[in-house]
Amino acid sequence: ASDPVYEATCTAPVNIAVVKYWGKRDTTLILPTNSSLSVTLSQDHLRSLTSARCITTTSNNSNANAVADRLWLNGHEEEIQQGGRTHRCLAELRQMRKDLESRDSSLPKLTDFALHIASENNFPTAAGLASSASGLSALIATISTLYALLPENGVSVSDLSRVARQGSGSACRSMFGGYVAWDMGTRDDGHDSVAVEVAPASHWPDLHALILVVSDKKKGTPSTAGMQRTVATSDLLKHRIDHVVPARMDRISTAIRNRDFDQFAIETMADSNQFHAVCLDTQPPIFYLNDVSRAVIQLVAELNRASVDAGKGYLAAYTYDAGPNAVLYVRERDVKLVLELVLRYFPQQTFDDPFHLGPEPAAASSF
Ligand code: PMV
Repeated sequence: ASDPVYEATCTAPVNIAVVKYWGKRDTTLILPTNSSLSVTLSQDHLRSLTSARCITTTSNNSNANAVADRLWLNGHEEEIQQGGRTHRCLAELRQMRKDLESRDSSLPKLTDFALHIASENNFPTAAGLASSASGLSALIATISTLYALLPENGVSVSDLSRVARQGSGSACRSMFGGYVAWDMGTRDDGHDSVAVEVAPASHWPDLHALILVVSDKKKGTPSTAGMQRTVATSDLLKHRIDHVVPARMDRISTAIRNRDFDQFAIETMADSNQFHAVCLDTQPPIFYLNDVSRAVIQLVAELNRASVDAGKGYLAAYTYDAGPNAVLYVRERDVKLVLELVLRYFPQQTFDDPFHLGPEPAAASSF
């Protein structure tokens, strides 16, 4: 008989934070200085697709030290650095599988085998479109599926988010679909720094995310270096951590539960503004927004003012991550109008199709 094949394929979408994570209190475990909250987009648009296979055919797999995992990203092989983030995530998942195998001796000993992993994004990598979040989340979803690290075996999605967090902080939030909080936690070992679902996507399917691609070039200051500099130099960050984010997390969670778009929009835009203010307060300062980004902010502010004055409430909420691209959250009924207006004021720009939120879970398995 031929050797059994152990493999799995999963996808994970990006998530776009409405309360931003910016700052680590532990750079190795990736523990944040504040809690954050995001919306996971639909699988249909910005997503990573990852396949993994246990290499069962090599001659001597009995020695665990011989295990040499390999990783291909968008078709190019990447080195898995010893002690690096991917390496640590894989080591942690192997340990979880080992624990499972020691509890159930009928399970195949998959941890003896090397893993070959291939991952691809269907959008530009590292352009401030949260590719590391979907990439790491798809990796964790795939290996955990392969290793049967499932709720019925005592492993929850929040447990897996703890592993994803150590690969890329914001990745922990892509383990869930819909509206997701990352509780910063208080413990030094990071055990309570996990993602939790605030509401599933089906709770508020009316909300759409429009991605306005201002530039798909790689971002200037990578988030890891930027955060480190901000933590070391910004007084405004301290104020944000202690006096702004905790109450904002409560208010925006309530807005989501009540499907209160006005409150959601107010908090989202204020948080994006403060995140970029904190970047400006860093020494030397970090600039992620460009002139087009700022013009989009002005346009949205003007549209909202007119809409509120007309008694129709907020029309759109902008938010920007570590790059110049805008994400606009808009209700279904206003998508057409907002797109028309954006295209009227930025006729020389080309915009991707609107990406809307779907009801699917974040990490769907498709063996
Ligand atoms: O997880 P990282 O290192 O890619 O950092 C993400 C930081 C922001 O995208 C700017 C904010 C966030 O919460 O996603």
